[in-house]
Amino acid sequence: VRVAVVFGGRNSEHSVSLLGAGSVLEAIDQSKYEVIPIGIAQDGRWVLASERQRYAIESGRLPTVDETGDALAIPTHSASLVALRPGEIPRALGEVDVVFPLLHGPFGEDGTIQGLLEMAGVRYVGSGVLASAIGMDKAYMKLVLRASGLPVGPYVVVRDRDWRVDRARVLKEAGDLGWPVFVKPARAGSSQGITKVHDAAGLEEAIEAAREHDPKVLVEAAIPGREVECAVLESLGDSPPEASVVGEVVVAEGHEFYDFEAKYFDGGMELHAPADLPESVSERVRALAVQAFEALGCEGLARVDFFYTPSGELIVNEINTMPGFTAQSVAPKLWAATGLPYPQLIDRLIQLALR
Ligand code: DAL
Ligand code: MG
Repeated sequence: VRVAVVFGGRNSEHSVSLLGAGSVLEAIDQSKYEVIPIGIAQDGRWVLASERQRYAIESGRLPTVDETGDALAIPTHSASLVALRPGEIPRALGEVDVVFPLLHGPFGEDGTIQGLLEMAGVRYVGSGVLASAIGMDKAYMKLVLRASGLPVGPYVVVRDRDWRVDRARVLKEAGDLGWPVFVKPARAGSSQGITKVHDAAGLEEAIEAAREHDPKVLVEAAIPGREVECAVLESLGDSPPEASVVGEVVVAEGHEFYDFEAKYFDGGMELHAPADLPESVSERVRALAVQAFEALGCEGLARVDFFYTPSGELIVNEINTMPGFTAQSVAPKLWAATGLPYPQLIDRLIQLALR
């Protein structure tokens, strides 16, 4: 079985994707799968990744796709990939059976590459176009989750025009949420562009910072409580999707919230899996996680993030259709704690895509 692992991408989670790809390339069963590593450089070019490339954080530096690899054409006809060097005749890489788009964020996790692969008739790991698109856009994600009866916290959507023509009203509405709030780009990930704002004075600057990532911004009321996460996996048969054990993220001191550094640098966070929660609470988390997965129509895998408040409420923070996927990332660790080790998780995802 030939698997194209695609990573990198034209967005701010480029490096995060490479960390996941490094893990997958190391752990995938090479006796079963022939792997073609394909990087999407930050300028959007597709390249056949070189074996020399390292996909790890080294001396605090994040990896990027080496643009000097052989340039590739994007998949253009049924299930085959064509390699191109400028001025050369296309060189076929041959058929691929399945693509693993190990990409996060816009142009990766948002339905765009999924649409491209649908058009090309190539099978791929993970959610389809619609679920990916909804999951990427926090405004639509919340609409769908709420309409499906899931508990979602208070928030305000700040659209580009609102901000440009009616800033005073936006600031008033956002201020009415109470303090603190989180200001987030609607379509980004890994906490990039997010600011925790404690009073009205910091709101304008935080919205401008989020707008550097996306002209559409969300202001969310901060939910007090513990951060608990649950991974969901589609079943190979007709059974409903399965939920992993529940994990709790404990952020290291010195981080104001679960920010980029806490997520990716050593010692930034600790994952307790399974979380120390009453069984009834874990069961509710697991049921809500599956409900969220099905509300969006996800396929393959997802990770659903919650707040567990001091009064015992569970609030869905968000769903990620291609969650961080190194061997040390939350979703793989939750599956390992549930009894599905990382190499088998990769295998299961590919088998789901090949059905
Ligand atoms: N957006 C990052 C990769 C995550 O959700 O894990
Ligand atoms: Mg996210």
